[in-house]
Amino acid sequence: MTGIRERLDVEAISAQPQAARHYLPGFGNHHVTEAVAGALPEGRNSPQRAPLGLYAEQLSGTAFTAPRHDNRRTWVYRIRPSAAHPPFRRIDSGMILASPITSAAPEPNRLRWDPRPFPDGRVTFVESLFTLGGTGDVRSHDGVAIHLYCATASMRDEYFVDSDGELLIVPQEGALILHTELGVLDVGPGDIVVIPRGIRFRVVLGDQRARGYILENYGRMLALPELGPIGANGLANHRDFLHPTAAYENREEPVTVIQKYLGNLWAADYDHSPLDVVGWHGNYAPYKYDLSRFMVIGTISFDHPDPSIYTVLTSQSGVPGTANADFVIFPPRWLVGETTFRPPWYHRNIMSEFMGLVHGVYDAKADGFVPGGASLHNCFTSHGADAATYDKASTTELVPQKVDNTLAFMFETRLPLIVSEQAMAAAYRQSDYDDVWAGIGRTFTL
Ligand code: FE2
Repeated sequence: MTGIRERLDVEAISAQPQAARHYLPGFGNHHVTEAVAGALPEGRNSPQRAPLGLYAEQLSGTAFTAPRHDNRRTWVYRIRPSAAHPPFRRIDSGMILASPITSAAPEPNRLRWDPRPFPDGRVTFVESLFTLGGTGDVRSHDGVAIHLYCATASMRDEYFVDSDGELLIVPQEGALILHTELGVLDVGPGDIVVIPRGIRFRVVLGDQRARGYILENYGRMLALPELGPIGANGLANHRDFLHPTAAYENREEPVTVIQKYLGNLWAADYDHSPLDVVGWHGNYAPYKYDLSRFMVIGTISFDHPDPSIYTVLTSQSGVPGTANADFVIFPPRWLVGETTFRPPWYHRNIMSEFMGLVHGVYDAKADGFVPGGASLHNCFTSHGADAATYDKASTTELVPQKVDNTLAFMFETRLPLIVSEQAMAAAYRQSDYDDVWAGIGRTFTL
């Protein structure tokens, strides 16, 4: 009961109770939303005095002059301008690192981890952040970092803002209630949520504890992939991406805002909540997506397409068709390929593949890759089905098969991922991962 009482307490700070929450659909849409009627000015953005005594402020997620189809900005109307705060001071960054990660020699081996254990005691979402690895350079807005969270307590008087990258959060266990500057989002395992860089938020736990994965994207904002010959529909559809409606905290008491800036944490003591936006309009906003809405495309003849067919969101680099980061899922689907080895083929890939499992079993690994765990197959690292999976898949009768009750995902990047020293040293890293391929025998018949 303690967890439920705490959730009600931290929820009560918000002007928008859970029962009242609804969402604004449409990826990249321009939304208009007011928590109080009349909070938005009509026909202009910056009147001499904004309605209701609010302050007008523009939040630019792209350069002012970014092409119109890429341009992201939101106008917020808030109780105080966000400029009203004292200086930030450096605080301990805990287990958070930023690229370039130099604490360990780049690792060419295949790596796998068991689920990260939950900590003893009360640890919030931000306090629990653990950087597994990264690539690129946070200072040039290029590359990514991959973090794990493992929280047992809600953030009540602390808020977080990441100036370095947008955060794609993949809950694996436990519901999250994200109170953001632009409204509140409820998510749980099976959903993802994306918090654009620069947006303040705090994380309330919907259950006793919560664990999951985070892709911190330093590069171009995540977008829907091109569909090419697929046509106008399919994969993740625009209307299934949900943005929050305006909600604000009318809160005049000491709170702390923790900012991640070029890899370090800084804190400032505010005398009011930074979540004081009463109305907003624009297209730079957090959003969530239910991964069960993903329309899966695969073969209906033989072989199977490259796993890019499972891309939900992509952050493109400057190289055409080459992602700074892709978010790819392996959801429930039918396998019907005739005379086909149905699990992923053996392969090596210039792109680096980090995988996680939300629930169920991944079809290329019979065991050892469990929900909450992770694996990394870095640039040109050989991988594919383990011995047991190969034996079964190469001899089984090929009837239509439903891969069900499973949700694996991949963060794929164009640059090799550098694993942090703390992730290499973690007690839950499997030291014997290579053994899964040890039993693959010679079947050459000549
Ligand atoms: Fe792979």
